[in-house]
Amino acid sequence: MFNCIYFEELDSTNSYAKRNIDSLNNYDVIIANNQTSGRGRLSRKWHADNKSLTFSIVIKDTRIINDFASLSLLSAVAIYNTLIKYVPNVSLKWPNDVIVNNKKISGILMEAVSFNELSSLILGIGINVNNDFFPEGLDATSLYIELGHSINKDLILNDFLLNFDYLINENIKGNKIYLKTFRNNNYLLNKKVEANINNKMQTVIVKDILNDNRIVVSIGKKDYALSTGELSFHKDK
Ligand code: BTN
Repeated sequence: MFNCIYFEELDSTNSYAKRNIDSLNNYDVIIANNQTSGRGRLSRKWHADNKSLTFSIVIKDTRIINDFASLSLLSAVAIYNTLIKYVPNVSLKWPNDVIVNNKKISGILMEAVSFNELSSLILGIGINVNNDFFPEGLDATSLYIELGHSINKDLILNDFLLNFDYLINENIKGNKIYLKTFRNNNYLLNKKVEANINNKMQTVIVKDILNDNRIVVSIGKKDYALSTGELSFHKDK
């Protein structure tokens, strides 16, 4: 069902998918062995080289596009299910960061684009697989750093696609099984953290994740349910 398209080098698999969106099909997977200008969320850069797994999945199926809020968390759970086979301490930071031993091991950049006036999504995923160092200031880790040996990147990609396929088909049938895994491995649960809410930094305590994928945080004695557009756990915007 997935159609994998391999490149030795690309600037960014998301940018390639954007440029070629008209000729790409649902579930085409763009993979770059080396990505030179990876992009992250909140206009950040994503550090990657030929030791990283970097790919983007093109989504044109309207059943998935219309439920993009689920897709974000579900994709993180598919990464969780993939990595937990190798490392024990994987957790999920809402909405879609994957953390091992308090460091980021994977990130997701979901972008909406239009083709022939219809919208489509590009789901870009970066997983630090065989990276043995990161530039200073990056709080990141990799499977290699955690395990002390390298792993075939294709093995991780295949596992991810199987996990993703299973979760997405269950979600289409109405079974939101990804939510259980997210809640059980919620990195922020009951933590006091700084959050950017509608451009204002506030101290919040993370309480829960709702069935509609919003996060529940308490500020003082009041609880608030917020979506990704309203809240981020980053200091600068
Ligand atoms: C983040 O956590 O900020 C998201 C990082 C997403 C990185 C991936 S790597 C493959 C795809 N292509 C990109 O340029 N970015 C995403």
